[in-house]
Amino acid sequence: MIITAPSVLSADFAHLADDLVSVKEAGADWLHFDVMDGQFVPNISMGLPVLKCVRANTDLFLDVHLMIREPQELAAEFCKTGADLVTVHVEAASSVKIHEALKTIRSCGKKCGVVLKPATSPYALREFLPEIDLVLIMTVEPGFGGQSFIYEMTDKIAEVRKMINESNPSCFLEVDGGINAETVKTAVEYGANVIVAGSYFFSAPDRKKAIESLRN
Ligand code: DX5
Ligand code: ZN
Repeated sequence: MIITAPSVLSADFAHLADDLVSVKEAGADWLHFDVMDGQFVPNISMGLPVLKCVRANTDLFLDVHLMIREPQELAAEFCKTGADLVTVHVEAASSVKIHEALKTIRSCGKKCGVVLKPATSPYALREFLPEIDLVLIMTVEPGFGGQSFIYEMTDKIAEVRKMINESNPSCFLEVDGGINAETVKTAVEYGANVIVAGSYFFSAPDRKKAIESLRN
């Protein structure tokens, strides 16, 4: 089964409540929420106050992607503010601190995951795999919506799918960046089962059809 997760980064923030309704009405499964700190990535997006408002306005499962340095420091706050799942980048802190962040998220009763930037080896997640619910493979450089899918990531998707099947088969494999009706086929063929789509979803003339096109 394919899970679809529109990325709120491409929503119209002046009409966010309407866009949240449209995500639900389009039949999407999750909502992807990108947090950027201007340090780990060269952009600043949104944080806890916006998450709080989103949580109050939707019952969608909230998939919070932390693109921040030292995520162990804020992970609990994102859980308390309404995240259902929180992912942290393996490149964002020492591995001891990434384990600490994951443990904190689990102790808040939420799902946790790790994210790999395009240049990061799939083997960087090996030590975290037994304790996580999801691996997110970035298929663009994190920081901005609207970039093109990096096709070279297919080998990594396949390798991570193999690792997941061998040691934690219920773990989700999510892809994020440059996903549209064409690139999704490649990502799913190589083993992804959670699909983030920002600009493709929010610029679609028919958002319901956009979700259907991501599931086929
Ligand atoms: C980029 C973010 C993505 C972004 C994807 O750093 O992590 O979630 O919203 O946008 P598109 O789907 O437009 O590439
Ligand atoms: Zn994201």
